Amino acid sequence: MPPLVLQERYSVHQNDFAPLIECDDLLRELMAQGGPMPSDYAQMNRTLRLLGDAVRAKVIARDDVLAYAQDVTNRHLEGTMQARALGKKYGYSGDFEIIEAIYTLQIAQEPHLRRWDLYFHSQAAPNAVRNRKAYFHQLLNSHSAGHTKAPLNVLNVASGPARDVREWMLDNPEREVFFDCVDAEIHAVERAKKLCAPFAKRVEFYHRNVLRFLPAKGYELVWSAGLFDYLTDRTFVFLLKALIAVTKRGGEVVVGNFSDYNPSRDYMELLGDWVLQHRTREQLRELALEAGAAADSIEVMWEPEGVNLFLHIRR
Ligand SMILES: C[S@@+](CC[C@H](N)C(=O)[O-])C[C@H]1O[C@@H](n2cnc3c(N)ncnc32)[C@H](O)[C@@H]1O
Repeated sequence: MPPLVLQERYSVHQNDFAPLIECDDLLRELMAQGGPMPSDYAQMNRTLRLLGDAVRAKVIARDDVLAYAQDVTNRHLEGTMQARALGKKYGYSGDFEIIEAIYTLQIAQEPHLRRWDLYFHSQAAPNAVRNRKAYFHQLLNSHSAGHTKAPLNVLNVASGPARDVREWMLDNPEREVFFDCVDAEIHAVERAKKLCAPFAKRVEFYHRNVLRFLPAKGYELVWSAGLFDYLTDRTFVFLLKALIAVTKRGGEVVVGNFSDYNPSRDYMELLGDWVLQHRTREQLRELALEAGAAADSIEVMWEPEGVNLFLHIRR
């Protein structure tokens, strides 16, 4: 039997729906056993990959898969990380609450949901998000170590929960580093203010849209993760230009963007409707050149999963 939500369409396109039926069969089987065990992950990934291939080949409409994902999630997976991504509480999947839940490895308490969250957190993409926090910390370590005479000024663009800032401050209470954090979501700013309350004198928050406003200081380090991979190329270049302009000579802009190598992409897009602008190292380089960066000032690095790329531009 096809999933309930698709029965009408299924009667017309029976063969085309095979990868979705296969996915539904597997999900039902896994739900019956109380969620996926690590030994089921490979089959889950393979099934989602085949479904993704069918969507890319336009054999199955993305909207049909999305309708299915909504239906199965509402009925069986409410409260899981995947359901929270799909629910888009603040308008899109990767909001500050989801990002914080990834950082803190939040797992549903209900026994029948726990294994779904363990599966979520085991994937390359959440690992890459956790790795990018460590990447930011390393950048802060190296910039602050080489900058001993005056305070180091850091601009954190689309700062979300600012858990990365809080953790670095906790580990480095003595370093003279000042952060300006900008985010367009008031709930994110409120959450971040709470997390960074012990360091209120060293962290300033701005509830603003970074496409319209940036604090007018000069910065030694400008950092942005989890924003540029939602932007079109045109907006990417526009914002990158603005970030370069507020970076002091000798300073650095570092911008994160998911790469086209993302093994979690089908899971994110098909079951979470979490769609990003994945970009290659070459594309990031091209966009940096378009934003006016000198060719020899550009470098593209990555975290250990190889999923999150980091475009570095030296001023
Ligand atoms: C995926 S979260 C990343 C948070 C943080 N940088 C991190 O990596 O932990 C993206 C954040 O970007 C913010 N955001 C999205 N568009 C924005 C804009 N135009 N101006 C400022 N903030 C924005 C959202 O409110 C959200 O908090």
